[in-house]
Formats: sequence, C-alpha cells, structure tokens
Amino acid sequence: MERDGHCIHVSDLRKQYGQLYAVDSVSFNVEYGSVFGFLGPNGAGKTTTIRILTTLIHPSSGEVRIFGKDIVKHAREIKKRIGVVLQEPSFEANLTVEKALDLYGILWGVPGERRRDRARELLEAFDLQDFKGKKNDELSIGQRRRVQVAREFMHDMDLLFLDEPTVGLDPAARRQLLDYVKKQVHGGLTVFFTTHIMDEAEYLCNEIAIINKGRLIARDTPAGLKQRYGRIKAVEIKIKDSPVQSVMHIIRPIAAGGLVEIPAEDTIRISSTDAQDMLVRIIESFARNSVQIESVSVSPPTLEEVFLTVVGND
Ligand SMILES: Nc1ncnc2c1ncn2[C@@H]1O[C@H](COP(=O)(O)OP(=O)(O)OP(=O)(O)O)[C@@H](O)[C@H]1O
Ligand SMILES: [Mg+2]
Repeated sequence: MERDGHCIHVSDLRKQYGQLYAVDSVSFNVEYGSVFGFLGPNGAGKTTTIRILTTLIHPSSGEVRIFGKDIVKHAREIKKRIGVVLQEPSFEANLTVEKALDLYGILWGVPGERRRDRARELLEAFDLQDFKGKKNDELSIGQRRRVQVAREFMHDMDLLFLDEPTVGLDPAARRQLLDYVKKQVHGGLTVFFTTHIMDEAEYLCNEIAIINKGRLIARDTPAGLKQRYGRIKAVEIKIKDSPVQSVMHIIRPIAAGGLVEIPAEDTIRISSTDAQDMLVRIIESFARNSVQIESVSVSPPTLEEVFLTVVGND
C-alpha cells in the first residue's frame, strides 16, 4: 500500500441541503495509522461528512482525496479498501450471529477458511460467543450493535469509519471494542471515529477535530486541546511547617469568589474557574511573606470541559 501523503485529505468541503450547509468549508488531513476523532453536537455535520467520505453521497463542492485518490473519480477503488459502520442500525433479522458474520465475509469475497478464522476471532473479541446461534432479531440493542461493528472486521481494510459505534454498549463491551480498534490501529489501520463520549475520544484518538454547525472550530491532539482551551478548576497547596490557619489572612482575599476547603491541617484546596490565576497570586504572596510551600497539585482539565467551552463559545 502506498503511504505518500495523507490517508484522508479534505479541502474546503461543502454539503448543501436547501438553505442549510450541513458541512461548510471543512478542511483537514488524517495521517495513516492514526485514529482521528470527529466530535460535535447533534446535527453538527459528522454523519454527513462520513457519508461523503465513504462515497455514499456527493459533496456540493470541495475536494476529498483518500489514499491520495480523488473520491469522486476513484469511488469504486476506494470503496474496496475502506470499511464503515454507519450510525443507523443495520442487521439481517433472520440470520444467526455466526451466519451474519459469514455472509458479510462472503459479500467481501473472503475465502472460506479465513472467514471461519476471522469469525472465531471476532466472536471472542466482541464477547459474542454465548449468543452466536441466536438470530439477530432476538438480540438486545447493545448486542446487535456489537454484531454490526464486529462484522465490519470480517474483511481487510486500510481505513475504517465508525459513526458512534459504542452507542448502547455496556462499559465492558465498550472497552473491549475500543481495545480491539486500538489493536487494529497498531497493525496499520487508520480510523475515523465519532462519539459523544469524551473519555472514549481521549482514550482512542491521536487527533481530534470539533465540528459545530457544519464548520470545524478546533483541531489538535487531546492534550493540545486541553492545553489550549481547558482551564484548571481546582488547586491544592500543601504548606511547609505551618498550619493553614496561620496563612488564611493571605489566602482569603485572593481566593474570594472561590470555594476554599481545608482537607488537612497543612493543606488548602481552592475550587474556582479562576483557580489557575489564584494559584499564581498565592505563590507570589507566599514568597513575599516567606511562607514555604511543600507541594502544589492541580486537577487537570477534561476533554468534556474543552468541548463545552469550544462549542459554547462558537
Ligand atoms: N438528507 C438530508 N436532507 C436535509 N438535511 C439533512 C440531511 N441529512 C442531514 N441533514 C441536516 O444536516 C445537519 C447535519 O446532520 P448530521 O447527520 O451530519 O449531524 P451529526 O453531526 O451526525 O449529528 P448526530 O450527533 O445527531 O448524529 C443537520 O442539521 C441535519 O438536519
Ligand atoms: Mg450523526
């Protein structure tokens, strides 16, 4: 497989429905062998983008190249090398889980022995053993979703699109799925992933783009996003050789407006949206008053806060 340039290249992409731009001037690249997280509120344009990138619908304008090839001109060729798990449920009601996996393998032209090996591996990896003989119709919602995701791995591919694959999955199944995806990525797979669960995005994604009302509003690594948009909300300061009470006259005026707690005799905890600034001022003031600090700890910002801030400010 050629690996020149980017696995996905999107430039000034637009999709118009009447007056609405469901996708509006979106540009980004996705590197080979990485997980690209595409996050955004309901109706932001995530599924529309996936539908374009998987050749299911045409863009109104803009350029998409996958594996270096134009998506409109080379749709057939690209389709052979990608997999997609769409947001909508899709299953063969009357087939058993085992048969459904096998049929999917047949549709993709996977030879018999490989199909059986692959199915065995997937039944195990997605914890489907216990109901492999059950018909899809008889499964719970989460079990069906697991089958829908698992069957996509019946065939080999270079790029996989997952549109909210973990909806309805219990915590163990969710973790199993994420770890299975991670393993495939280590083996060279590239993944385009959407979710509304920020912890999940952070666990899996190398890079995250946030889309809102059709437009990309932020893009970075999870750590980079937190550094740029996250704010430290709580700090804990442990004071050396003196009780907190003896320095409260310094802290109180600075921490006014925040929540001040004393979890231990020598430790103070301040929670506030300005906690970071307060910490700086307390450290300065302690230095002036010769108060020594034993240690400082801060609660790092979460991706969820970043998401709410970025989308909220848009
Ligand atoms: N076929 C269509 N015709 C008209 N409008 C559409 C069509 N498909 C999507 N839209 C609109 O485009 C916008 C983006 O929809 P899209 O399904 O891409 O959102 P999403 O980010 O996937 O949301 P969710 O998180 O709810 O899945 C929405 O406002 C939606 O109403
Ligand atoms: Mg969607």
